[in-house]
Amino acid sequence: MAKHADLSIDFLGFKCENPFFLSSSPVSSSYDMCARFLDAGGGGVFYKTLTTTIPEECSPRFDAQRKEATPFIAFKNMEQTSDKPYQENLDMMKQLKEDYPNKLIIGSIMGMDEDNWEQMARDVTATGVDMIELNFSCPQMTYEGMGSDVGANLELIDTYVKAARRGSHLPLIAKMTPNVEKMEPSAEAAIKAGANGLSTINTIKSITGLDFDSYTALPVINGKSSISGLSGKATKPIALRFIANMAQDMNLQGVPISGIGGIETWEDAAEFLMLGARNVQFTTSVMQYGYRIVEDMISGLSIYLAEKGFEKLEDFIGIALKNIIPADDLERDFKILPQINYDKCVGCARCYVSCMDGAHQAIDWDNEKRKPTIKEDVCVGCQLCLQVCPVYDCITPGKVLFKEEDQFGKGSLSEWKENASNKRDIIVGMYDWI
Ligand SMILES: Cc1cc2nc3c(=O)[nH]c(=O)nc-3n(C[C@H](O)[C@H](O)[C@H](O)COP(=O)(O)O)c2cc1C
Repeated sequence: MAKHADLSIDFLGFKCENPFFLSSSPVSSSYDMCARFLDAGGGGVFYKTLTTTIPEECSPRFDAQRKEATPFIAFKNMEQTSDKPYQENLDMMKQLKEDYPNKLIIGSIMGMDEDNWEQMARDVTATGVDMIELNFSCPQMTYEGMGSDVGANLELIDTYVKAARRGSHLPLIAKMTPNVEKMEPSAEAAIKAGANGLSTINTIKSITGLDFDSYTALPVINGKSSISGLSGKATKPIALRFIANMAQDMNLQGVPISGIGGIETWEDAAEFLMLGARNVQFTTSVMQYGYRIVEDMISGLSIYLAEKGFEKLEDFIGIALKNIIPADDLERDFKILPQINYDKCVGCARCYVSCMDGAHQAIDWDNEKRKPTIKEDVCVGCQLCLQVCPVYDCITPGKVLFKEEDQFGKGSLSEWKENASNKRDIIVGMYDWI
């Protein structure tokens, strides 16, 4: 039987049985929905954001970004906060906490002004939930000064965190907007004002596509549309960079981060954890595939960690952070040539076309034999061919060549050469992940 690592992990003083959470959205918008996720094994839920008045929603309200045969790679929504009466939501959260005392239940709120933030924090605290998330990040609120308007405004962050703190003694988690160049100033402002943790990312302002008859962005609502939030797999790279930036920020050291953005599988989740997130949340993947994706996440992550020799998840958190360095610190004195495994090559010529039109004309093509050959003297080792090849393991990293000594400082070349074989293992080792 496969060995399993311990996935339990502390988050702001609460011992969670695993790091897998629903993020605040339709997937966590009632007692019944949250209960089904918790029964499937989830570690906890961030309940759908409450406002004291129910917002008016439009129909339709979704669109998706597709590519070739994929169902969709990103998802646009125009939805705001909960469509259920305020008191009904409070009652459901109370019931959830009573019925699931060992799961982490987090209320999410969005106020309209200081008094409203304070009152909502007080009301949610009275339900008995464990923590409160402050939604500073929904990009499609129809009221000014709410959602991502707050997340990009340091003064409003300060005012509303303090208001929520007056209404609650519970840990407060600020949910940050990715619709900024740098998230750290907003995060630092939230922590300085009294927040205890951070969640990120919420959705990214977007237009997914246009309708070619009505000349309107999608979805079309009576002939018009709006810019609104993008989520799902294609947003993961953006989310990961925000997580890394925050986890490396000297002023945010020790602040627990909850990672969100395009998480569908245990591998996606592991990437956030490696960059310092202590748990992960997801919505779009549940909207596509249902709550039971959490079963695969639990078994996949615990088996992977055990295979890698980790007894507990805690030891894995942030393990990749030391390897994310500024671009000017990267070593640039070698190139790794691609190698083609001709037993696997199907002769599709995609490597040839991409190299010819998109790179350095470093692949020869034999049309008779439908066979590509790498021109080693021209190849710069960019490995575009490896990225476009449709056959797994057909093109892999091969020979490591060091640049001429006079192209970079003397001394380092000889050091490099001494360690060459070892270096190659390290360099090539990273491709195990592909
Ligand atoms: C339809 C929809 C509604 C959402 N509603 C909320 C909300 O009420 N509060 C909130 O904090 N985030 C909300 N979100 C954002 C998600 O919680 C999450 O931050 C975002 O979708 C990125 O994660 P994902 O790629 O796993 O979906 C919503 C997302 C979607 C798709």
